[in-house]
Amino acid sequence: MRKLAAGNWKMNGLKADLDQITALATDHPAPTVDILLCLPATLLTSAHAVAGQIALGGQDCHPADSGAHTGDISAGMLAETGASAVIVGHSERRADHAETDATVAAKAKAVWAAGLTAIICVGETEAQRDAGQTLDVIAKQLSGSVPEGATGANTVIAYEPVWAIGTGRTATLDQIAEVHDFIRTKVQTRFSAAVGGGIRLLYGGSVKPLNAGDIFGVSNVDGALVGGASLKAVDFGKIIEALSSQQHH
Ligand code: 13P
Repeated sequence: MRKLAAGNWKMNGLKADLDQITALATDHPAPTVDILLCLPATLLTSAHAVAGQIALGGQDCHPADSGAHTGDISAGMLAETGASAVIVGHSERRADHAETDATVAAKAKAVWAAGLTAIICVGETEAQRDAGQTLDVIAKQLSGSVPEGATGANTVIAYEPVWAIGTGRTATLDQIAEVHDFIRTKVQTRFSAAVGGGIRLLYGGSVKPLNAGDIFGVSNVDGALVGGASLKAVDFGKIIEALSSQQHH
């Protein structure tokens, strides 16, 4: 399968930062991996003009198509900007906006209905890991957040341990392998070996140019969801290159 380097800019980015996207697109005119930047919605339309081979996505959407939901954005609105994917269920949304698995699943269905790919995030907190609950938490999030009908074409799953996000602490390679192998088995058991085998699994949590190569060598890691290091073309470019060298293996 084609690997995926995805960036999540979170609540960062003004028009001046479009220069980073221009630089990234110029440096990667014919990428051998998929490159995706999930931007603030305010930048999507203008980024589209400079993004070249870089796909664009949103960071969240409302489950409904339209309606009286002040401040929200629909998947169809994101699609109209040229976006091809939407992150749903990021741990920051789950924590800041009390999103449940059911909400995340409803959002994923809305993303599909708009013809886009849902990047569905799961991940345990530090307290849950310390209590030995990691795989139980991941199993519950997968069954509650990933709707029936998931395929490799409409869904990407991102494993992002909450304690590794924005902390500079990454999960160990063994920890990543354990959870990614677990997720792969779960989706293959639930859907089919072929369908579950085609869903890309991304690792996220303090992925940087210096650790990306090791992380991309872990089994069932099909790419990364990168926060801070996706903001600068030079850093994200190095992560893309590390992933590209794995694509040929
Ligand atoms: P950092 O790469 O900044 O740790 O963020 C990871 C993340 O949350 C991506 O969605």
